[in-house]
Amino acid sequence: MKKIRTGIVGLGRLGRQHAENAAFRIPHLELQAVCSVVPEEVEDFQKTWQIPEGYVDYDEMIEKSDLEAVLIASPSGYHCRQIEKALAAGLHVFCEKPLGISLDECRQAERAVEAHPDQIFMLGFMRRFDPSYQYAKKKLEEGAIGKPILFRGYSIDPESAIEGAIRFGPTSGGQFLDMAVHDIDLARWFLQAEARSVYAVGGCYLHPEFASFNDGDNVSALMQFENDTMAFFVAGRTAPHGYHIETEIIGTHGTLRIGGTPRANQVEILDRHGVRQECAQNFLERFEEAYLNELQTFAQCILKGEKPDVNVYDGTRATIIAKAATRSFRDKELVWIDV
Ligand code: NAI
Repeated sequence: MKKIRTGIVGLGRLGRQHAENAAFRIPHLELQAVCSVVPEEVEDFQKTWQIPEGYVDYDEMIEKSDLEAVLIASPSGYHCRQIEKALAAGLHVFCEKPLGISLDECRQAERAVEAHPDQIFMLGFMRRFDPSYQYAKKKLEEGAIGKPILFRGYSIDPESAIEGAIRFGPTSGGQFLDMAVHDIDLARWFLQAEARSVYAVGGCYLHPEFASFNDGDNVSALMQFENDTMAFFVAGRTAPHGYHIETEIIGTHGTLRIGGTPRANQVEILDRHGVRQECAQNFLERFEEAYLNELQTFAQCILKGEKPDVNVYDGTRATIIAKAATRSFRDKELVWIDV
């Protein structure tokens, strides 16, 4: 069986999951090299999983290792530069969201992808690969709810993860780019249109630290899309019950809801508190299958020479919309978006 020699950069919360999937769960991928700026992480991975090569410098991995593909799961500010480097070296690239944190670097990544048309580039908007979102998309396309009118997306991290959210907040690009970007991509995917205008509000309701880097701990935005459809987003960091991902698409003849109650499983607990369901606690738990499916798709695209549905332009559009929402939140005014 053909195995694609793969490297990964970034071995943190998400990189670990991608590395494990590439090493053990995707038959056509072979994890040959790992890279992180933290030497202990690299050593630990190599030892525990018998990965042949380890690097603390990304450029060195790309130059020295005989790779065919790379997975980028480093902090968002590094993505575009690392994409360009890998493409220039002839590799296929899978990159985590967001594509970039500035429009200039996104455009540069677009040019790099365009300059290497025979290589696969895929962006990790993994919700498109979650079975429930895929089913909802199929229902929509079959006409189950008529024409879509409104997309509503909530992405709220658990309060239990607040320390990390505050620590990485200043370099994350802000709530809209870091959290709501998934919903922004889904809104474009479900509504089949681009956002035209946005008005965003929010604040620091539990954690004043977010204000020091011009962000809020909970923010929301209302958008109008070019086909007159609407979208409403909530992104936050303070869900007491867990990882709250909830999506709704209202149509002319019905409504689709995904995770209306963001439960971890089908179990109901009846006890002295009443009747309750437990909630997924983090993104790895909620989207385990989606992370696996997206890498599987990446491998299949390489093998078949097919372009993935989620591409570099989806990354740029999502960044443009997220940045417009951020500007609206900071300047407290309606922002028009170039379509
Ligand atoms: P993290 O902070 O947990 O891990 C970052 C990793 O990158 C660490 O191993 C760190 O040592 C390494 N690193 C940092 N700078 C580097 C450099 N210059 N060269 C090589 N390695 C470097 O971050 P996390 O949460 O894993 O996020 C990584 C990326 O994944 C971010 O872009 C984030 O937006 C995205 N992400 C996507 C999620 C999704 O659901 N699709 C969920 C969480 C994160």
